[in-house]
Amino acid sequence: MQQQQQRILFVCLGNICRSPAAEAVLRYQVEASGLADRFKIDSAGTGAWHVGELADARMRARGELRGYSFTHRARQFQSKDFHDFDLILTMDQNNFSTVLKSCPAPELRCKVKTFVSYCQHHQISEVPDPYYGGIEGFDTVLNILEDGCSEILKQHR
Ligand code: 4NP
Repeated sequence: MQQQQQRILFVCLGNICRSPAAEAVLRYQVEASGLADRFKIDSAGTGAWHVGELADARMRARGELRGYSFTHRARQFQSKDFHDFDLILTMDQNNFSTVLKSCPAPELRCKVKTFVSYCQHHQISEVPDPYYGGIEGFDTVLNILEDGCSEILKQHR
């Protein structure tokens, strides 16, 4: 019997660094596991400054070195996403509260979780925002995303 598709949305602030990278990492992992048709994966930002843009060039460069591909164009999170996705994973506490504020019904609040709650090898409270830092911050984010995405795939496959 065909299992139900898992619809997963990653959310950060700008939708050009952390969440499109999470989308690229999870997509790579599900494709490598032959499970692409079992997942719908997308990302969004709580802010609208970068709507329509590709992921930040630094994130694309560091991610492409690891084999990830970036085609997502930034979009803003909308309350309709609560209906279109089963799981909404936020990158930091700020995104977590912003997303919950736009929750259209109390019973949908349980769809929102922090990305780091899936991490097995990083004891951290948030995925750090790499935007204003150096290039090493993008590699740190990718390491965190690979850790959490492996667990997401394990739990939701
Ligand atoms: P992201 O990073 O939330 O991981 O996409 C940021 C991108 C842009 C800005 C902040 C964070 N910004 O202020 O423009």
